[in-house]
Amino acid sequence: VIQEDLLLTPGPVQVPDSVRKAISRPMINHRGPEFKELFLEVTRGLKWLLNTENEIVIFPSSGTGVMESAITNLFSPGDAVLVGVMGEFGRRFADIASAFGLRVDLLEVPIGYAITPVILNDYLEQAISQLRNKSTLTSAPPPYKAILLTHNETSTGAILDLKGVAAVAREYQIPIIVDAISSCGGVEIDVGSWNIDVLLTASQKALMNPPGLGIAAVSERALSMCREATLPRYYWDYRRFIEKSRSQETPYTPCIPIWFGLKEVLAEMQKEGKACLFARHRELALTLRQGLSEIGFEPFAKEPFASPTVTAVVPPNPYRADDIRKTLRVSYGIVTAGGQGPLKGKVFRVAHMGAIRPSHIERLLGALKGLLST
Ligand SMILES: Cc1ncc(COP(=O)(O)O)c(C=O)c1O
Repeated sequence: VIQEDLLLTPGPVQVPDSVRKAISRPMINHRGPEFKELFLEVTRGLKWLLNTENEIVIFPSSGTGVMESAITNLFSPGDAVLVGVMGEFGRRFADIASAFGLRVDLLEVPIGYAITPVILNDYLEQAISQLRNKSTLTSAPPPYKAILLTHNETSTGAILDLKGVAAVAREYQIPIIVDAISSCGGVEIDVGSWNIDVLLTASQKALMNPPGLGIAAVSERALSMCREATLPRYYWDYRRFIEKSRSQETPYTPCIPIWFGLKEVLAEMQKEGKACLFARHRELALTLRQGLSEIGFEPFAKEPFASPTVTAVVPPNPYRADDIRKTLRVSYGIVTAGGQGPLKGKVFRVAHMGAIRPSHIERLLGALKGLLST
C-alpha cells in the first residue's frame, strides 16, 4: 500500500475525504437555482462561524487577493494607516498598503511575539498626544483611517489577542481590518461582538479546502468607507458583490468546486460545534508542543503567544531545520514548511489545523524521534 504524504504545511492543508468528494461534483450553472442554494448555505455557515450579520464577500482568489481588496475598497491615496507587524504577513499587508499610495506607520514587535492590547493602547495614546501638541485643538481626530492587523502570524506561529486589541481600536474609534487567513476556523473570532470592520480569510487553511476562495466579512462602517474611498477598483469592488448577493449570485464566475467544499466543511463544523472545534485545535497544539519539548525541539513562539493552528519549530543543535524537513519528506513522507524571512533555515513550520488529528501529530513526533536516533 502506498501511503499518501502527510501534508503538515500551513496552507494548503490536508483536505478531508468528504471535501475531496464534494469538490469533484459535476459543475452547475452559477446563474441557476442550485448555486443560489449553495450561496445561501455557505454565507449562512460563514456568518455562523464568525458570529456576524456583516456582508460576506467571496472572491475566487488566494489570501493576498482579499488583503488587497480591503485596501482598494476602503481607502483613498494618502490615507494614513497603522499596520501591526509580527512577521512576514504583517509586512505583506504594509507592502500592499504602500503599493496603493497609503501612508503607512508600522507598529512592530520582535518576531515570536504578538501585539498586545497594552502595546496598541500605548502606541495610540502617544500618537494622539503628539498630534495634540502639534495643533491647537484640544481633541485631535483619530490619527489613522484604520488599523491593519495579522491575527495569526503564520511565519512565526504567534497569535494576538484579537478580542483585546479590537477593544482598544474601538475605544479610539478606529476601524480594524484583520487578516485571519491562518486562524479562521481554528480559533474563536467573534466579528459581531468584537466589532471587526473587515475580517479576511481564505479557503486553504483551517477551512480545510484547496486554495481558491478569498473571503471578506465587511461591516456597515467599512461599507460607508467604501463609498467614500477613491482608490480605483473594478473586479474587487465589494459593492458589486454585495449588490449581486441580493439574488444569491456573484458578479463574475465563482470558483464553484471550492464553494461545494466549503459548504461541506461548514456543515461539519456546525455539527461539531464551535466550542469543540476550537478546543480540539488548542489541545492538538499543546500535544505537539509538549511532544517537541520532550525531544529537545523548541517552539519559536512561546506562551501566551503560541498559536493554536501553526507552530514554527527550532531544532536542537546541531540539527539544521532544512535537513530535518528533507528527511521528514524523503524518509517519512511528512511535508512541513520552511522558515520565512529572518527565520529562513532556522525553523520548520507545522500546521495543526483543520483535518489534522492527534494520530498525525504522533506520526510527526515518531519521525522526529527516529531521525534523532539515526
Ligand atoms: C497570515 C497570512 N496572511 C496572508 C497569507 C497569504 O495568503 P495566500 O498565500 O493565500 O495569498 C497567508 C498565507 O500563508 C497567511 O498565512
